[in-house]
Amino acid sequence: MSNTRTCSLQRLSLRMMHLLDPERAHELAIRSLACGLFPQVPQVQDERLHVRCCGLSFANPLGMAAGFDKNARAVPALWNMGFGFVEVGTVTPLAQPGNPRPRLFRLSHDEAIINRLGFNNDGQAAVRRRVQGWVKQSPRGVLGVNIGANKASRDRIADYAQGARCFADVADYLTINISSPNTPGLRDLQGAEALRRLLGGVQAQLREKGKETLPVFVKLAPDMDDAALADIVEVAAGEGAAGLIISNTTVERPAGLRDPQRREQGGLSGKPLFEPSTRMLAQAHALARGRLKLIGCGGVHDAESAWQKLRAGADLVQLYSAFVYHGPWLVADILQGLLQRLDAHGLKHVSEVVGNGVEEWLEKV
Ligand SMILES: Cc1cc2nc3c(=O)[nH]c(=O)nc-3n(C[C@H](O)[C@H](O)[C@H](O)COP(=O)(O)O)c2cc1C
Repeated sequence: MSNTRTCSLQRLSLRMMHLLDPERAHELAIRSLACGLFPQVPQVQDERLHVRCCGLSFANPLGMAAGFDKNARAVPALWNMGFGFVEVGTVTPLAQPGNPRPRLFRLSHDEAIINRLGFNNDGQAAVRRRVQGWVKQSPRGVLGVNIGANKASRDRIADYAQGARCFADVADYLTINISSPNTPGLRDLQGAEALRRLLGGVQAQLREKGKETLPVFVKLAPDMDDAALADIVEVAAGEGAAGLIISNTTVERPAGLRDPQRREQGGLSGKPLFEPSTRMLAQAHALARGRLKLIGCGGVHDAESAWQKLRAGADLVQLYSAFVYHGPWLVADILQGLLQRLDAHGLKHVSEVVGNGVEEWLEKV
């Protein structure tokens, strides 16, 4: 099929999805992916994109961020679309329904999303069974599991320890999500003392399971001051975390948002999150001084924005919102664009870009 024809088909199918209520469209997308109904997309496989990080082997540095496939139903389809890694979750110990609907809003004018889903998920037992199945597949990509706490939990720190215990032997890495704005009080766990206890509890579980080398990432909110970030970097490095994911959605509403839905409550993601989350990434890179790996997330929507995440210090990059606006074809576009940029800059491997632009990004802080 000609390129022009493929492009118009892509646009048409996305436009049809966007006629549906966002949550229904999402459910339909996950169901289609889960039963193998997804468009054939070009595959970009190139040694120059291959990343080794935390003892794991990534075919490329681009991953699907948490929240898209909360219940691990569509993992192989996402790997097949070319993502180097997929992060499922957030998963809480017990299944929970999340907040009342409507709770998901497309800000089409801004290429952004606001969500206040509130960790709707099937719970650890169901998700563990699926993850167990996916990691037996060959060939496969990297699979991370993002863990959280139940809304009604009396001991949230214990919920994370339970998550670590549950997924220790099936996940390639764990993410501690303490940055969702939609579970009241959750972000308090980003305080230094709480985080120290939380990571201590998680590491104790991993040791008990003989999995003390399993990489643990901490996912942060972009809404924090420099001192708080500096504290977190020290605690994370001191307590044996492998790295940080920067960032989750923001409760800020950056100037310039045009969409009428911008006043909805919840976490904002997509293009308007790109600048603030990338500045924070560069700050974390400077503070960590090589002690932590960094996953850059927030507003990646094309090859240039992915390239900038790498320049700002990301070892790996994730996206979610742009997938909703551009569809699965975006993955190959970004990977091809990264290869073109490597050529244009005379670089041999994607790792050579990491951190090259930190100073520039710090000047924007
Ligand atoms: C609808 C929606 C649901 C999300 N759910 C989760 C979640 O369960 N856990 C989590 O850590 N992040 C969640 N996120 C945040 C994303 O993983 C990501 O950090 C954020 O959207 C920024 O990336 P983006 O601008 O590429 O979307 C969610 C984002 C969206 C849009």
